[in-house]
Amino acid sequence: MNAPVVVSGMRPTGRLHIGHLHGALANWVRLQEENTCYFFSADWHALTTNYHQTDVIKQAEREMFVDFLAAGVDPERSTLFVQSAVKEHAELFLLLGMITPLGWLERSPTYKEMRENITDRELALYGFLGYPVLMTADIILYKATRVPVGADQVTHLELAREITRRFNATYGPVFPEPAPLLTAAPKILGTDGRKMSKSYGNAIDLGESAEATAKKIMPMATDPARKRRTDPGEPDVCGIGFLHKVYSTPETMAWVYQGCRSAGIGCVDCKKKLLETLGPDQERLRARREAILARPQDLEELVQLGIGKARSAAAATMEQVRAAMKL
Ligand code: TRP
Ligand code: SF4
Repeated sequence: MNAPVVVSGMRPTGRLHIGHLHGALANWVRLQEENTCYFFSADWHALTTNYHQTDVIKQAEREMFVDFLAAGVDPERSTLFVQSAVKEHAELFLLLGMITPLGWLERSPTYKEMRENITDRELALYGFLGYPVLMTADIILYKATRVPVGADQVTHLELAREITRRFNATYGPVFPEPAPLLTAAPKILGTDGRKMSKSYGNAIDLGESAEATAKKIMPMATDPARKRRTDPGEPDVCGIGFLHKVYSTPETMAWVYQGCRSAGIGCVDCKKKLLETLGPDQERLRARREAILARPQDLEELVQLGIGKARSAAAATMEQVRAAMKL
């Protein structure tokens, strides 16, 4: 029995933060135990909205791969590669484009939302409209059945299933239908109390030093109900509370709940307590990042090896695709 195939990608936007660590990356690390995994840098997808910033992609991709490895993605088990290095993605994207109705793409909520919200650049673009078609190609090229993604990507996965069905109905059953793998990720807020996101400037990067982490944690927004030290609060609505759930022991958690709700502890005490575990964990990741960064040649080789593996899997699928389509 072959292990199920898992594919997931991230657009290379630079260093990852601790939201990615406990969301996507923790999932990937678990999944590689029992699946054949492909994890890649979606550099062509980055171009669909950032076509004017091509100079930053390579460096961002490097940082991202370093973070994958530091978080525990194991290159012996998982194939790490770069989308643009495997040209079959482009070929399959083109072929899928022949059978994908415009209406499906134009109706995509993500597409509509981004067209409305991003006003500082042209987005009425063929490539941007085709984002989910390229994503479909990324997935089915490896005959993946499981795709770990965030909730924001589920509509893209729905489209991928529809496109896959249409392909199979038109040319014969080549591809299994991919399904999203939605694993509950802990909620992680940024320093300003909004969702942690690089673009909000509120992120704590994976592997920042304990000192730098403390500088961000100490002024971090907490439960707004605790205006004064004597006001009780609620850890279940507080960004620090959410972090405790990820980093602290059950005993500490009990201390947080009891102390916060009774105003027995202050937010400063609570934050210092968090840093007792968050700080060392960040240092551990920092050391791993530095060890990887100290051997750039090894990283390069590992990615080249992954590209080679991805290419041969992709080439085998494309032979079947061309045969099914009589090309
Ligand atoms: N669209 C995904 C994102 O923005 C990235 C991505 C590209 C992807 N191709 C994929 C994710 C294939 C899963 C599978 O996060
Ligand atoms: Fe948040 Fe802790 Fe302050 Fe409660 S005591 S509001 S959990 S920082």
